Amino acid sequence: MLIFQSIQETQSACAQLRGEGRVLGFVPTMGALHEGHLSLVRAARAECDVVAVSIFVNPTQFGPNEDYAKYPRTLEQDCGLLEREGVHLVFAPTADEMYPEGASTFVLVEGVSERLDGASRPGHFRGVATVVSKLFHIVCPHKAYFGQKDAAQVAVLRKMVRDLNFPVQLVVCPTVREADGLAMSSRNRYLSPEERRQALVLSRSLKRVEEMVEQGERAAHRLIAAAREVFAEEPSVRVDYISVVDPDTLREVSEVSTGTLVALAAFVGGTRLIDNTILRT
Ligand code: PAF
Repeated sequence: MLIFQSIQETQSACAQLRGEGRVLGFVPTMGALHEGHLSLVRAARAECDVVAVSIFVNPTQFGPNEDYAKYPRTLEQDCGLLEREGVHLVFAPTADEMYPEGASTFVLVEGVSERLDGASRPGHFRGVATVVSKLFHIVCPHKAYFGQKDAAQVAVLRKMVRDLNFPVQLVVCPTVREADGLAMSSRNRYLSPEERRQALVLSRSLKRVEEMVEQGERAAHRLIAAAREVFAEEPSVRVDYISVVDPDTLREVSEVSTGTLVALAAFVGGTRLIDNTILRT
């Protein structure tokens, strides 16, 4: 497995692979890999000839009071996992390599970037869109793989790819969950055992919403109220948002139908976790 820090080496290795006619799959990550990331790698392996993975904790997508400094960095362990998955190339640049002194160009997907997590984390999606554009220019993948768990990120990147004509196909893979329902996240490792238990309220409230929809409920406000009732069972968990939205625009809807996104974020102790479900009616 090739491991590069430099943009130039990565760019030329990826160009060579494409030049040989191989279909190149790409999984962008911030490392601290778990089964969710590995499911993206496996999907890419199944559909592409070669797979590149980036590992980069992107400073521009973190707010000033967020967890950039303490975000887990486990490069050696991550590379071991990726090698076992048959990944061809890992791109693990430094922050200076990605953002050299004086870099001042950003990508902003207006509108959609200000909704859901974008409303709670101003500037977050500008950082995500900027780094993913740079990574797409460096790797030039045919297909890029993202997790449904980051539903708002998916909406932002879909729009960016369309608006800026990136010649890449986005593939969105299902959220991977622990046996008890908790959505896998690199941030789960911040949770104490008690917080880990409390965190189950996120998936439990989404289950409740799904059940109500199955029983015929279509009114978004009643679904949100029911989800909030489930959260009331864990008073120390603070809801950031619970939203029922169109999955592409992230605009709120009043009536749900097949494809409607129910997304939520909550603080469990100091850890902000997200989860969502796509409804079927
Ligand atoms: O989903 C993530 O891990 C990050 O937002 C991404 C897409 C790797 C960009 O830094």
